[in-house]
Amino acid sequence: MEENKIKETTENTLKKGIEVTLKNLTKEFVDKTGKVTVAVDDFNVVIPSGKLIGLLGPSGCGKSTTLYMIAGLHKPTAGNIFFGDEDVTLLPPEKRGIGLVFQNYALYPHMTVKQNILFPLENMKIPKVEALVRAQEMAELVHIGELMERKPSQLSGGQQQRVAIARALVKYPRVLLLDEPLSNLDARLRLQTREEIRRIQRETGITTVFVTHDQEEAMSISDEIIVMNEGLQQQMEPPQMVYDNPVNLFVAKFLGNPPINVIEGKIKSKKLMLKNTVVLEENCDFADQDVSIGIRPEFFVIDEKGKIPATIEIVEHIGRDNMIISKIDGYENSFRAIVPSGLGLAPGEKIKFNYSKIFVFNKETGRRLI
Ligand SMILES: Nc1ncnc2c1ncn2[C@@H]1O[C@H](COP(=O)(O)OP(=O)(O)OP(=O)(O)O)[C@@H](O)[C@H]1O
Ligand SMILES: [Mg+2]
Repeated sequence: MEENKIKETTENTLKKGIEVTLKNLTKEFVDKTGKVTVAVDDFNVVIPSGKLIGLLGPSGCGKSTTLYMIAGLHKPTAGNIFFGDEDVTLLPPEKRGIGLVFQNYALYPHMTVKQNILFPLENMKIPKVEALVRAQEMAELVHIGELMERKPSQLSGGQQQRVAIARALVKYPRVLLLDEPLSNLDARLRLQTREEIRRIQRETGITTVFVTHDQEEAMSISDEIIVMNEGLQQQMEPPQMVYDNPVNLFVAKFLGNPPINVIEGKIKSKKLMLKNTVVLEENCDFADQDVSIGIRPEFFVIDEKGKIPATIEIVEHIGRDNMIISKIDGYENSFRAIVPSGLGLAPGEKIKFNYSKIFVFNKETGRRLI
């Protein structure tokens, strides 16, 4: 009876989810010599309640700093953070109702799994029985219910990370914050654990921010991704939309494996041209300018009537498809195309490519034009 009541409370508490708003959020670090690093630059984001958001970007772009400001571990230089309507900018971490999971699990090695999960409840006035029920429930949620008496050293990396997640959830946080939680796991465990995180997030409905520099990881589990670069937010949308419609060259290059091909070209008299006078598109309604043309490997089509003349250098067999590495006539760098296998292509062969889709960016600013 008692147990059921507690379970119901857990579900109600966790399922609520809460919207998180970052408003003009900025963090500058000043080192001893007075040099200023703008780690996060005027960030404006609404993280919808109950969603899993992937915060994605290269090393040093400000992901952890953003997360730690949401957690309350870093004080913003400027801007505000709201949980729902509540301005939490000045609240200390323990009053925010967040659960935080780091890359290195940070479990207490001398404590059992159960003691580790119970630890955050120690300073709360929660009856022992309720605390134990909660701990067991969280352990079951992350599928480690039968490991409660073990020490962290007797667990696999993936199990340790699940203990860390249970520990983060046991206080019924309003927001779950994960900083590269999978990077210490091997490839297979990483895949498994990311699916677990997705499941746990769906089951609890807790608003979650998941930091990673791995584009595939972010794309695979996020409802939406925020792409960051040099402290600046680049784009926030569902993963497929970011992939299909990158706002700039940085985002286009950051998503996709193998990466997008970038070929220098120009717009002249409304024609989109490769530098060696091949016309790709007519009627481009833009001023004359140098551009970077982005073509994803899967956008290429081999076609006798294709506009792009190229010479094959290497043919790689990658299962169902072939990866063709070629040089465009008149260009130095090679590009990759994924085409169906069985076309009988060989190195040295001259072919023509067409494309199913193309992105065009201003060469200097990287802003997307087409
Ligand atoms: N405590 C600090 N003092 C000074 N500079 C800092 C501090 N913390 C972070 N920075 C700087 O702020 C910038 C952003 O750092 P941050 O840790 O947020 O990056 P990140 O995106 O999490 O990178 P990674 O993927 O490597 O973890 C970096 O240039 C970093 O050197
Ligand atoms: Mg980091």
